[in-house]
Amino acid sequence: MSNKAIPVLDLVFDFLSTKGFHETEATLRREVEVTEPNTSLRNNNQGTGSRLEDLLEKSYVTQLVSGDLNAGQKRRRAHLDALLETAQEEEDAKILKPSTEEVVEKELSVATQLVSYNPCAGDPHGASSMPIYQTSTFAQPSATSFGEYDYSRSGNPTRKALEEQLAALEKGFRGFAFASGMAALSAITRLAKSGEEIILSDDSYGGTYRLLAKVAARNNISIRYLDLSGSGGPSRLQAVITDRTKLIMLESPTNPMQRIISIRDISHVAHSKNALVSVDNTMLSPILQNPLELGADIVMHSATKFICGHADTMAGVVITKTRELAEQVYFYQNAEGTGLSPFDSWLLLRGVKTMELRVMRQQENALRVARFLKEHPSVTHVYYAGLEGSENADLHNQQARGAGSVVCFRTGSLAFSQHIVTTTKLFKITVSFGSVNSLISLPGAMSHASIPAEVRKAREFPEDLVRLSIGIESADDLIEDLQKGFQTYEFAPELKSEK
Ligand SMILES: Cc1ncc(COP(=O)(O)O)c(C=O)c1O
Repeated sequence: MSNKAIPVLDLVFDFLSTKGFHETEATLRREVEVTEPNTSLRNNNQGTGSRLEDLLEKSYVTQLVSGDLNAGQKRRRAHLDALLETAQEEEDAKILKPSTEEVVEKELSVATQLVSYNPCAGDPHGASSMPIYQTSTFAQPSATSFGEYDYSRSGNPTRKALEEQLAALEKGFRGFAFASGMAALSAITRLAKSGEEIILSDDSYGGTYRLLAKVAARNNISIRYLDLSGSGGPSRLQAVITDRTKLIMLESPTNPMQRIISIRDISHVAHSKNALVSVDNTMLSPILQNPLELGADIVMHSATKFICGHADTMAGVVITKTRELAEQVYFYQNAEGTGLSPFDSWLLLRGVKTMELRVMRQQENALRVARFLKEHPSVTHVYYAGLEGSENADLHNQQARGAGSVVCFRTGSLAFSQHIVTTTKLFKITVSFGSVNSLISLPGAMSHASIPAEVRKAREFPEDLVRLSIGIESADDLIEDLQKGFQTYEFAPELKSEK
């Protein structure tokens, strides 16, 4: 080491030591030792300052501290810190020529993605949960330069965090969170213009039926209801689709009759006429089915159900496959002010973390309940896509990873069904589904009441149909509760005579 360089380096070492950068100091000392014997540090003719600059410029430590050290630099650095031993050479060789398996980064499982998603990584205070930006407005840097957000109707960081997570889960281009599932469906119907046609799969949710029949139809959009289920669904669509058809809207499994629609084949027919396909994926959640991967253009959820999971928030989600559709959906979300509030977005961000756990446990319980019902002598029909031998089970298994937790059954008598609905204790009588606690309803009188009685009759909608939404309780307790409902009816002869 030259005599001139030593005092300057001493100053640097001293500086690092007083600032507490002990590791950095030690590494720099080692570097100087390795570099010094035969490098320009000793021999060049520059002044002390420039030698130091030269050293610092090359320094691994400097780059490390300043944060611009990349893998290539690390490799180049190897000769400096005398780490170029065989093991290191092998490591470096791997970096230079990675094996094929290493190039393809392994996708994390959904359960891991749900909890490791960190939308607030850059938070100045290190928040570990996404903060609620409970603000309507955002101050702008000046009158002519604008930040990412200006007004919460148009965009809000908490809502955006949720939208990005859901778009990733459904493998779409962009997601949009709405104030309810109906607001989400309404934004989708806006894609059809006056003179165009929307085709809705029959046996859809009653609210969707009402939205199309009583709102969209007023805008001179014609609505057609069609059975799109099973292997015959695509050819029935093929027979009626025209150039005027803008949108096909469907659910699979349908709610509540659990008919299965081939999302792939329906999309194929729709695209041959440039029509869009929108799938209401509420029944299965993104955990069990991803319609965009099957060919659909839009997927939506009543996030009030599984995405929230706790029956405490109303919300809807739309995820589009393309940028072009995203722009249109965003336009309506902003123009009509239907975006989800920051607080409700935060509740969903929290609920979503346990979605995989909940959905899988609920599904496990549902299968046990469905098998119990199938064996029960008082049950005439069970509708559950996960049941052995259920209609179109093969088709369902080709496009979904499970059947979810909505199980429907019939007793052959409205009075008997009503009795079960009112006597079970663990099942709350409510219209919804997808919550951690079990629910029971009579769709004909409740969720599907918005479909006119004559239409229900024409579609052979069974009035004695009971819908169960299975929660995360013990399946044994749920089965026992249902069993009591059956038994008490059998001991009530005045009711039984109606069967
Ligand atoms: C399948 C389905 N889609 C959409 C909706 C509407 O969603 P929301 O009630 O969140 O407005 C519901 C509501 O029950 C539903 O069951």
